[in-house]
Amino acid sequence: MLKFSRDTVAQVLAAIDIVEVIGARLSLKPSGGSRFKGLSPFTNEKTPSFIVSRDRQMYHCFSSGKGGDALTFLMEYEGLSFSEALRKLADQAGIRLAMPSEGDDREEYQRGQLLELGKVAADFYRRQLLDRGAGEAGRAYLEKRKIGAVTAEKFGVGYAPDAWTSLYDAAVHRQYKDHVLEASGLFRRGESSDRGMYDFFRNRLIFPIRDVSGNVVAFGGRDLGDSPAKYINSPETPVYKKARVLYGLYEARDAMRREKYAILVEGYFDLIRCFDGGVENVVASCGTALTEQQAALIRRYVPEVVVVYDGDSAGIKAALKGTSTLTAAGLRVRALALPDGKDPDDFVRDCGADAFRALLASAPDFLTFYVDMTRDRTETVEGRSEVAHELFQILRGMADKLRVDEYLRLIARALGLHEWACRREYEQFCRGAEERGGAARNPAAVSTVEDRPHKDDVDFIAALMAFPAMRRPVSMALAELMLPESPLAEALAWVLAQPDECRPAEAVADLENEAARRLLSAAALTEAQDEDWARNLVGRRSGALSREALRAETERVLDELRRAERDGDSARILELLRARTALSIRLDKLSVS
Ligand code: CTP
Ligand code: MN
Repeated sequence: MLKFSRDTVAQVLAAIDIVEVIGARLSLKPSGGSRFKGLSPFTNEKTPSFIVSRDRQMYHCFSSGKGGDALTFLMEYEGLSFSEALRKLADQAGIRLAMPSEGDDREEYQRGQLLELGKVAADFYRRQLLDRGAGEAGRAYLEKRKIGAVTAEKFGVGYAPDAWTSLYDAAVHRQYKDHVLEASGLFRRGESSDRGMYDFFRNRLIFPIRDVSGNVVAFGGRDLGDSPAKYINSPETPVYKKARVLYGLYEARDAMRREKYAILVEGYFDLIRCFDGGVENVVASCGTALTEQQAALIRRYVPEVVVVYDGDSAGIKAALKGTSTLTAAGLRVRALALPDGKDPDDFVRDCGADAFRALLASAPDFLTFYVDMTRDRTETVEGRSEVAHELFQILRGMADKLRVDEYLRLIARALGLHEWACRREYEQFCRGAEERGGAARNPAAVSTVEDRPHKDDVDFIAALMAFPAMRRPVSMALAELMLPESPLAEALAWVLAQPDECRPAEAVADLENEAARRLLSAAALTEAQDEDWARNLVGRRSGALSREALRAETERVLDELRRAERDGDSARILELLRARTALSIRLDKLSVS
């Protein structure tokens, strides 16, 4: 990684305000003093536990345990690398950072170049579309599909000419290195003897695919000729991980926040058509199965999704599959099948955006939808049980037990089963799934609990931050003792080494261990109570820690003692016995005081 000096990092952090950085992405409300509160973007919480402090320039999410400074927030929230996050903040603050050079770090350099090339290519395709001669085929196609020029422009729709090396020539002209061109996925190498490179996208309408930050990271291309592949897409590259990108999210996020739900469609045209009709809270899965990461991306912005896939049976299958991923991410899901097997593009074009909005408003929850869609199967007992099990599979991934309960009642009613029978079936199903080795389905919910710093540790560190005088006795009690490695040990070592005034925001860069960082940010945003509370807590915790360390040390000495006895090393035995005695005296003292 291109190394930025501590000073550079500090300079950038000093030039921005974390409240503005986070406030531009989430809604925050003042919560007393310099603190702000909001719903955590990392969990499905209903009551806000996400705190940002202007004084401390730190944030902490008390439900997921995540925390840190503006940099770690951007890394976490937008999935950026450290240097990308730093660059973003520097840009915002008007500070110029050196661009990575190839010598510093080839990977970082290549990523930077690929993002730049993405932009260059998108501009190239857009210009081609507007080109009087070359762009004719592209413009005619857009016109035939009745997509407005303004909407097409918003998505940067372009045209890849019907030629072998038009983009390649433009890129070479700009002197991109071969390894960059190769990694971009925009070119292929020929089979013939000269093995020259040629354009991957030819005679296609081009849809640039952007990441959440708005960088063009890939392209989709619709054939305008007679290629057997109607659509082709960029392969994965160092800047394009398919599972982590959702088409349209960058353009849709404001509308999603406003509308408080997202519409999930399948195709490029489906999405662009919705925008054209003024429905802008739409994202597209682009024909692939929705991933956990994509569902988590949506969950950052909204609590609810309406899945609108083609009304044919493949579309309904895909909708159900997507549904379990969405509900497992904590999203509420409704679903909609359009009449006559139309896709959203066809429907909005033929019936108008208002008719579409009306359907959206009345879309049933996914469960009712699914039972409706499987009417032909639920005539028989076996069929009903099958459908119930398909739905159980989805419920099992839900973290919210109250909703599971509610859904079980719905399933029973929809399938005409007795509620208690349905419930018993479900419990049996879950037990069976566990026995079959299916681990808990909801990884988010599980890791949340594990990663959250312990309240007692948080309070302990918070007390030491607030009352510098209490640090010395703790240092003394722990003198010469090795605390077992832990987030607490790391945070403790940090706070004990601080001068009176602590600046936890500065420590974020120093602490390698994420759990330690979380602990520190939690402590920094925890209000210490009065001095008596702190003294009590610090005494208790440091006593417990020394005891723990003394016991561990004793164990180690005893181990060595056994070895020395086996070897008959009498000098060593004596030495170790003395050490053990000293340790037990220290332990005794601790118990009486
Ligand atoms: N898709 C793809 N590759 C294919 C077919 C489809 O990547 N060979 C993706 C595209 O993102 C496409 C979406 O799946 O937009 C939906 O596919 P489909 O319903 O077949 O196409 P439409 O979007 O309806 O395409 P069009 O309206 O242009 O015919
Ligand atoms: Mn279509």
